[in-house]
Amino acid sequence: MLSLARIRISSRLTAPGAPLRIPPFPFPRSLFSFSTGLARTRTMSAVAKRLSGKTIVITGASSGIGRSTAFEFARTAPDNLRLILTARRLDVLEELAVKIREAVGDGVKVLPVRLDVSNPEEVRAFVPGLPEEWRDINVLVNNAGLVKGVAQAPNIAEEDINAMFQTNVTGLINMTQAVLPIFKARPEGGGGDIINIGSIAGREPYVGGSIYCATKAAVRSFTDSLRRELVATRIRVMEVDPGQVETEFSVVRFYGDKSKADAVYAGCEPLTPDDIAEVVVFVAGRRENVIIADTLVFPSHQAGVSVMHRKPT
Ligand SMILES: NC(=O)c1ccc[n+]([C@@H]2O[C@H](COP(=O)([O-])OP(=O)(O)OC[C@H]3O[C@@H](n4cnc5c(N)ncnc54)[C@H](OP(=O)(O)O)[C@@H]3O)[C@@H](O)[C@H]2O)c1
Repeated sequence: MLSLARIRISSRLTAPGAPLRIPPFPFPRSLFSFSTGLARTRTMSAVAKRLSGKTIVITGASSGIGRSTAFEFARTAPDNLRLILTARRLDVLEELAVKIREAVGDGVKVLPVRLDVSNPEEVRAFVPGLPEEWRDINVLVNNAGLVKGVAQAPNIAEEDINAMFQTNVTGLINMTQAVLPIFKARPEGGGGDIINIGSIAGREPYVGGSIYCATKAAVRSFTDSLRRELVATRIRVMEVDPGQVETEFSVVRFYGDKSKADAVYAGCEPLTPDDIAEVVVFVAGRRENVIIADTLVFPSHQAGVSVMHRKPT
């Protein structure tokens, strides 16, 4: 009834090609804002309903995209959610848990867990170490990852090669293997979401990024294989590939040198971690039969890994 009224009003006011004119206040204008507000509320509540009651694991939740994703899940389904936040910096996770509680209240329960995904023993102990009521995991966001340096072969430090592969690839695979038995035990061959954070670097290699690019290409292959292997189940395997996002990522790449990290973003308006978090929660919040298999997200000045429009600074 309401939407019918809205359609009638719109068609009366707009001649073909003419700009939309807002009718005189009060009646039609308030009807417009009421109806659009109602539509937004309906969309939000559908997603909140789908996420409600779920237990979500986020790796690398102490910073950047992982941290924003924790907040975005909490804001989207504030009434009934369990968030297991993992990273190596437990103190930062504990502060984050307090901030989430302050922001959305007690409907979201947060469990901070110290976990180095590059250590297979820690990953093996992760699920058995969870309190019983936290083990029924529904969503795994494999986000922990890093890049180290810009060295080119044959001068790439072995330590950096190992850190990147053990975190970005082996860590992600081990976490997936730790959680999959929980997903596979559900009806219809299994249910649950695996959301892997890849990168444009996994699609387009670049000079000075050979190891990082190789790790993200590996994530892409693993993700695509897994989706095929699980096709007869209700387990959704999804990948979100960010372009340029301003986080601690570049600071880590340059071993703590903030000025070098800042230079990466000179003349650009990079994505924020919140932009990626919104996409992660969007893919997790779709109807069970919908898989947003693959998403590439750029800021507006970026069109490829090195296709970047920079304003003069
Ligand atoms: N920023 C970008 O431009 C960009 C672009 C494309 C893809 N990505 C990807 O996005 C993901 C998140 O990166 P970000 O940009 O948010 O960077 P960030 O701010 O540096 O966050 C990285 C997170 O990963 C965690 N981490 C690193 N090594 C870990 C380990 N061994 N075990 C557990 N946690 C570990 C860090 O926590 P602790 O240090 O506390 O362990 C931190 O929470 C990464 O996979 C990255 O490759 C980023």
